Amino acid sequence: MDLPRRWLFRMLLLVAACFGVLFTLYSVGRRFQEPGARARNIISPRAFLELKAPNPEHTKSQSQLCRHPLSLAIQKDHHFRGLFNLSTPVLLWGGLFTQDLWNNLSQQNVPYGWHGLSQKVIISTLSLLNNSESAELFGASKPLSCIRCAVVGNGGILNGSRQGQKIDAHDYVFRLNGAVIKGYELDVGTKTSFYGFTVNTMKNSLIAYSNLGFTSVPQGKDLRYIFIPSSIREYLMLRAAILGVPVPEGPDKGDRPHTYFGAETSARKFKLLHPDFIRYLTERFLKSKLINTRFRDMYMPTTGALMLLTALHTCDQVSAYGFITSNYQKYSDHYFDRKKKPVIFYSNHDLSLEAVLWRGLHNAGILRLFQR
Ligand SMILES: *[C@@H]1O[C@H](CO)[C@@H](O)[C@H](O)[C@H]1NC(C)=O
Ligand SMILES: *[C@@H]1O[C@H](CO)[C@@H](O)[C@H](O)[C@H]1NC(C)=O
Ligand SMILES: *[C@@H]1O[C@H](CO)[C@@H](O)[C@H](O)[C@H]1NC(C)=O
Ligand SMILES: *[C@@H]1O[C@H](CO)[C@@H](O)[C@H](O)[C@H]1NC(C)=O
Repeated sequence: MDLPRRWLFRMLLLVAACFGVLFTLYSVGRRFQEPGARARNIISPRAFLELKAPNPEHTKSQSQLCRHPLSLAIQKDHHFRGLFNLSTPVLLWGGLFTQDLWNNLSQQNVPYGWHGLSQKVIISTLSLLNNSESAELFGASKPLSCIRCAVVGNGGILNGSRQGQKIDAHDYVFRLNGAVIKGYELDVGTKTSFYGFTVNTMKNSLIAYSNLGFTSVPQGKDLRYIFIPSSIREYLMLRAAILGVPVPEGPDKGDRPHTYFGAETSARKFKLLHPDFIRYLTERFLKSKLINTRFRDMYMPTTGALMLLTALHTCDQVSAYGFITSNYQKYSDHYFDRKKKPVIFYSNHDLSLEAVLWRGLHNAGILRLFQR
C-alpha cells in the first residue's frame, strides 16, 4: 500500500471503530436484542468492517459474541447468583454412571431418584448413551460463542401473538408436550430443535389434544428429543428407540418408538435429563409448599419449567414464549384451544410459584419473558 492509501485506510478503520462504539452504547441500553433486529440493520458495524478491513477471523468471532449473556446477568443478581450453578451436569449419559451415583439415586424416590427401578434396565440404557455426544445438548452445529434459544410453552398468550418469525430466528427452539404447529405457524413458528417430554406427558398429549391438531410428536432430521426421567418408562422407551425395537416391558410394552420419533435411531438423537439436575432445579428454583402436603410424592415442576430451566443452563440467551404471566386470566389454557378455557392448576404442579420465578428471572435480565 502506498502512503495516501494507507492513510485513507486508517481513517476508514477509525470511523468504523467509532461506529462500533456508538452501536455498543446503543445496544447496551437494551436488555435483550430481538433476534430479528440484527438482520434489519441496513448496514451493521460488522458489515462495514467486513467491507473495509480484511480480517475475517476477527470479525467473525466479534459478530458471535453475546452482548448480554445470561451468565453475566446471574452474577449481577444477589438472589439468583446464589441459586444458579451453571456447572451442574444437565444430561445423564454412560460416562456419569458410577456405583456412588447408583447408591445415591436408588435411595430416592422417582421422579428425582431411582428407588425401586431396575439397575439392569438403567445400565443397559446408559450403555447406549456412552459417547461424549450424549453429554451435550448442542452438537457440532452450535454457534461459537452465543447460543440463543427460544423455549415455547403452550400457553394461550401465544394465540394471535404473531411471534412465529421471532421464535424461528433463534439458534435453537425448544418445544414440549402438545406442541401444535400446523395452523399456528404465524404465532408459534415452525422450527423445533428440541422436544421435551416424559413418556406420560407425551402420550397424554397425543390423546388429549389429537382433536386440536396434536396428531404426532414433532419430527425432523435436526430435531433432538429430551427425555425427562420420571419413572422406568423413559429408560425403557429410550433404549427401545435407539435399538429400533418395540418397548419390551412395562406400561408401554409393545409401543414402537419410531411411530413417535421417526425412523432415525442414532443415539445422538436422544438426550436424557440427569435426575440430579431435576432435583437441583426443584430444590433451588421450584421448592413448592406442596412438598409438605399429601401431594408430596406427586409434585413435579411442569415440563415447560424443566425445559426453560434446561435452556437457562445450556444457552447464552433465552427467550420464553407461551409461559404463564401475571395476566394469565386474559388468555385460554393453550394457544390451540378452540374455545377459551381457564388455566388449570393441577395439584401435582405449582404454577403460581413458576409464574413468580419467570417474572423474577425476567426482571433480573436473565431471560426475556414474552408478555402482552
Ligand atoms: C456446582 O456444581 C459442580 C458440579 O456438580 C460442583 O462440583 C460444584 O461444587 C458446585 N458449585 C457450587 C458453588 O455449589
Ligand atoms: C445424594 O447426593 C446429593 C447431592 O449430590 C446429596 O444432597 C444427598 O444427600 C445424597 N443422598 C444420599 C442418600 O447419599
Ligand atoms: C461406558 O464406556 C466405558 C469405556 O468403554 C465403560 O468402562 C463403561 O462401563 C461404559 N458405561 C456404561 C454405563 O455402559
Ligand atoms: C384466539 O384469538 C382470537 C383472536 O386473535 C380470538 O378470536 C379467539 O377467541 C382466541 N381463542 C381462544 C381459545 O381464546
